[in-house]
Amino acid sequence: MTDLDAFIAGLPKAELHLHIEGSLEPEQMFAFARRNRVDIPFADVEAVRAAYAFSNLQDFLDIYYAGAEVLRTEEDFHDLALAYFRRAAADNVRHAEIFFDPQTHTDRGIPFAVVADGLLAGMARAEAELGVTSKLILCFLRHLDEEAAFATLASAEPWLDRIVGVGLDSSEVGHPPSKFERVFARARDMGLKLCAHAGEEGPPAYVHEALDLLRVDRIDHGNRAMEDEGLIRRLAAEGMTLTVCPLSNLKLCVVHDLTTHPVPEMLRRGLHVTLNSDDPAYFGGYVNDNYRALAKAVGLGRGDLARIARNSFEGSFLGEADKAARLAEVDAYVS
Ligand code: ADE
Ligand code: ZN
Repeated sequence: MTDLDAFIAGLPKAELHLHIEGSLEPEQMFAFARRNRVDIPFADVEAVRAAYAFSNLQDFLDIYYAGAEVLRTEEDFHDLALAYFRRAAADNVRHAEIFFDPQTHTDRGIPFAVVADGLLAGMARAEAELGVTSKLILCFLRHLDEEAAFATLASAEPWLDRIVGVGLDSSEVGHPPSKFERVFARARDMGLKLCAHAGEEGPPAYVHEALDLLRVDRIDHGNRAMEDEGLIRRLAAEGMTLTVCPLSNLKLCVVHDLTTHPVPEMLRRGLHVTLNSDDPAYFGGYVNDNYRALAKAVGLGRGDLARIARNSFEGSFLGEADKAARLAEVDAYVS
């Protein structure tokens, strides 16, 4: 382990862009398939890993939604969450804000309650046993329509005291943020925080829409904002947090080589970058793998990495006192 790897390993951090369904490791996929008596179209774990060669976001999403088929019971969702938090704790993640895609489950007959109660139980156990705090974010699938998003928000109502916000994910191109303007307005009126994937594959105009029409608190990814000078200045001036996912970008061919990743330019331009794993089981690494791979590829130093860790707490949906306590941990670590 290099000195920088050791620095990353011990750095207190938050993870703000993690799809819990994307933390389903192939071994776990087989275990859940066995206990739920679900057939999966793979002979073994190696065959699953071999299928994880993607040329774009849709290639990945097709496999990711198929993988989620094995998730059936509250226990599955609990175990999935707890396994993620164990890995996160090993990376010194002190707080995580995790996305889930209820429509992926309710559309195949799994009740919202099974998903939400299972995840919340895993989160509570992770906090008690590992000291990792967390918040839950409900994502709307943008390839589905506005009406389905409204119905999902309605079915979430009994849980809204335990869901911090809503997000927007799935196939980006052809499904602009404007499609969900009204459901985001409703979520905002309900007091929920707002995030949206924008500028992963979609154009800078989608990032503008996420800001202007959805009025988001965070942008997930945001890579393509770097094509628009005015947008870069606006994101910097507004102190907008970007949840960037380097290994995801590499696996989904958003960047062709990590050495050309936009993070160094984002930092130079004063953007509030955070580093995250997105779907770690599919993209070859958890959060520290992302920190390490990017630092090595583009030459980030301790100052940059400490800045990124600070951004992760500042951009979180923690209350001010909790943010201050976590930021003090970063300061104590780097001083
Ligand atoms: N769902 C899970 N991961 C995603 C990503 N990176 N982009 C869009 N939708 C997703
Ligand atoms: Zn994502």
